[in-house]
Amino acid sequence: MKNLFNLSSLSVEEINAILDRAQQFAEGETSDIAKGKIIASLFFEPSTRTQNSYSMAVMRLGGQVITFNTEVSSMKKGETFYDTVKCFEALGCDGAIIRHSENEYYKQLEGINMPIMSGGDGTGNHPTQSLLDLLTIKQEFGKFEGLKICIVGDVIHSRVAHTNIEVMERLGMQVYTSGPDEFKEDGLNYIDFDTAVKEMDVIMLLRIQHERLSSAMVMTKEDYNRQFGLNAERVAAMKDHAIIMHPAPFNRGVEINDDCVECEKSRIFKQMSNGVFVRMAVVERALKG
Ligand code: NCD
Repeated sequence: MKNLFNLSSLSVEEINAILDRAQQFAEGETSDIAKGKIIASLFFEPSTRTQNSYSMAVMRLGGQVITFNTEVSSMKKGETFYDTVKCFEALGCDGAIIRHSENEYYKQLEGINMPIMSGGDGTGNHPTQSLLDLLTIKQEFGKFEGLKICIVGDVIHSRVAHTNIEVMERLGMQVYTSGPDEFKEDGLNYIDFDTAVKEMDVIMLLRIQHERLSSAMVMTKEDYNRQFGLNAERVAAMKDHAIIMHPAPFNRGVEINDDCVECEKSRIFKQMSNGVFVRMAVVERALKG
């Protein structure tokens, strides 16, 4: 059973194999490996991109998806997380895609006998987001070794940042972080944002994870935008070949200005398209076992 819970347990060879397969799908390769298979898409936290691009991936591979909504599910009657997932196994699902707000939720699912693919756990891991980020970077630069990236914003609450920092360092990238003091994490390379803008190959912006803050932010949106928001002036200071990334959803006028979202350096929508190809590779890997 090829689960995907995190990237830290995958070797560099396994990560590159997934990226190579995703690139083949990006170039038009097809597969019907999921024909006759039904995958449960179980999102216990909101999602637009991850949930629907996993569904696109399953459907592109010839399979079908069933979804469920916590608000109208038997969890409202007290059913546990484990029993909910076990139910979908009993119904005959061939695998499940799961997002949950609890870090390492998958440790509760040891009795489940179908492959599980993560759509993100709490502030911990978001393996397919990192894979699509890596694919986008590889398409752009053809390598990872020596590239400089700065991840900007709410690093401490971001599963995207946590997953990317670990894997990007392992792949030989130089990873920096920037943003307000309250989001700084010990042990990471911190860099001033305006310096980062000039020096990096990749500027990766993050959304403030308001739903994970223990108290409301002191800094106003306007202050955040002034100090850490990407605007046309900062984009103009970036290196010629440098690119802008964001896992989305983005907040226009906070971490990124309207006129930068689709500017020439932005790869934000490219990342979303790559999400389908990466997830096709992940679903294929899970079903092949
Ligand atoms: C991210 C997530 O859910 O971790 N979104 C995504 O999957 N593309 C980032 C976020 O919510 O800010």
